[in-house]
Amino acid sequence: MTYTRIAGIGSFLPEKVVSNQDLEKTMDTSDEWIRERTGIKRRHIAGAGETTSSIGLEAAKRAMQDAGVGPEDIDLIIVGTCTPDKLFPSTACIIQRQLGVKGPAAFDVNAACSGFVYSLDMANRYIKTGGATTALVIGSETLSRITNWEDRGTAVLFGDGAGCVVLQASEEPGILATHIHADGQYEDLLQVRSGVSVGYEKTQSGGAFIEMKGNAVFKRAVATFDAMARETVADLDGELGDIDWFVPHQANMRIIKAAAKKLGLPMERVIATVDEHANTSGASIPLALDQAVRDGRIKRGDTLLFAAFGAGFTWGSAMIKY
Ligand SMILES: CC(C)(COP(=O)(O)OP(=O)(O)OC[C@H]1O[C@@H](n2cnc3c(N)ncnc32)[C@H](O)[C@@H]1OP(=O)(O)O)[C@@H](O)C(=O)NCCC(=O)NCCS
Repeated sequence: MTYTRIAGIGSFLPEKVVSNQDLEKTMDTSDEWIRERTGIKRRHIAGAGETTSSIGLEAAKRAMQDAGVGPEDIDLIIVGTCTPDKLFPSTACIIQRQLGVKGPAAFDVNAACSGFVYSLDMANRYIKTGGATTALVIGSETLSRITNWEDRGTAVLFGDGAGCVVLQASEEPGILATHIHADGQYEDLLQVRSGVSVGYEKTQSGGAFIEMKGNAVFKRAVATFDAMARETVADLDGELGDIDWFVPHQANMRIIKAAAKKLGLPMERVIATVDEHANTSGASIPLALDQAVRDGRIKRGDTLLFAAFGAGFTWGSAMIKY
């Protein structure tokens, strides 16, 4: 049987850091409010020359180096992003060219904050069925470009960043299970109202900005994290106690804590980077994973549970023997 193994990880954060104190100077908010409601202290923001592809490229290069693979080894590139450089070509194609990879499939997946887990699910299926042997799965976002800096209810929540895993076919597990889901009835709770086909006049400013009903999203997120973790563990005839590390999407520390509590997982076994990165959407799980691998918490052989939730609503999980 062919399994899919994480062979390497890399991440990249833009150099520019914006702290809560910086935001206090430009909007009616406070460090205390942001930390209390979200756990966020600071976020990285893409500079003028940085794009989703440029930061995704750096994360990919680091992951390839970590895995010891070159451009000639890559036969699939999937980028989970809801903030692509442009409508087309896809961010995956732009990164493919810059990496010097030619020929294999490269495409973007838009599942908002679940984009990385959706992409992981897809790459796993390609590899298990022999359609690819070495895949790059990248989560890369420049959410600052769709942030309305005049809306304190959303502006304080988001950040930019990128993370990447190199997945390889292996005889050893690997990705043990993935589940992805969507329920489109919640469009109104979290969306960018304007866009190419509906037109940009939908927002007063004529731009494309994140709009969110924070409270309602919060409640759905907590309930969904709990349900999807149980679904994944049950699918493997396992126990929640089998999980060494819970690596959730980093939206809000209160959501992460509530989900961990419902699952009976102590915070010592939860990877949380939302304080330093804020919500980086599809990049948040690979960014958190990379940090925990680098600082030595996550080790080879550990069992990991990824769980993501985002606009759509979309949600998805993956159980992995690292
Ligand atoms: C956004 C969120 C932090 C808001 O926290 P909350 O406890 O629900 O707060 P509310 O929206 O009820 O707002 C409470 C008050 O704080 C105010 N407020 C909102 N943003 C603020 C800010 N940045 N600074 C200071 N005050 C703020 C509101 O105006 C409101 O004031 P009022 O009571 O005078 O009307 C929270 O709902 C949340 O995290 N939701 C999920 C968001 C998320 O994770 N989305 C992505 C999912 S992938």
